[in-house]
Amino acid sequence: MTQVLAFDVYGTLIDTLGVLTELEQRLDALGKMALAPEFSRRWRDKQLEYSFRRGLMGGYVPFSQCTEEALVFTDRALQVGLSETDRAHLMQAYARLPAFADVAGALRRLSEAGVTCVAFSNGTGQAVEGLLEQAGIRDHFETVISADEVKRFKPDPAVYAHLRYRLESEPGDTWLVSSNPFDVIGARHAGLHAAWVRRSAEAPFDPWGIDPDLTVGDLATLAERLG
Ligand code: LAC
Repeated sequence: MTQVLAFDVYGTLIDTLGVLTELEQRLDALGKMALAPEFSRRWRDKQLEYSFRRGLMGGYVPFSQCTEEALVFTDRALQVGLSETDRAHLMQAYARLPAFADVAGALRRLSEAGVTCVAFSNGTGQAVEGLLEQAGIRDHFETVISADEVKRFKPDPAVYAHLRYRLESEPGDTWLVSSNPFDVIGARHAGLHAAWVRRSAEAPFDPWGIDPDLTVGDLATLAERLG
């Protein structure tokens, strides 16, 4: 039985808070640097909300559009006054985010153990390929599977079904690995195994009674358990 691990990208492999430095510089120039942590958090939350709402409406757009529109919204909500140039730089920073420090070592260990790893994201194939490449971790993945291929967003069951279709795998052999509780619950709901990467000890999980098969604090521990 070949085990396949499908890794969520934003927040699991790639640190979305990496945009903070660019944000601080932009906000500092406007005398609003203190807003940077809240801005960053609200931007990420809004990006996800937009993807969920787009999915419910049946009005799919690429994930990067959700990201950009969430940026505009957050700017309005916090009354920051970012210029078009500021926004362009922030979007560029979003395409150059770093990988978490534990990613490369864990993926190496899993590949040595013969586990197949794929990247599985709401981001488009092109965006994710570029992101993983610049973060120096692309070679660890057999392929990139994007929700864009079915024009839906996780946690729509169609996206997890598409993952299995692309992998030609049985649900019992397929693991979703994600730091995002909505993704873990979506995968479990679709019959897959799921590991929750609880990167912060304070991170809460949704009390829906749909729990992860495995909870780890980082990817090194995941590689020990599943490698
Ligand atoms: C992704 C987002 C949801 O990479 O984290 O799919």
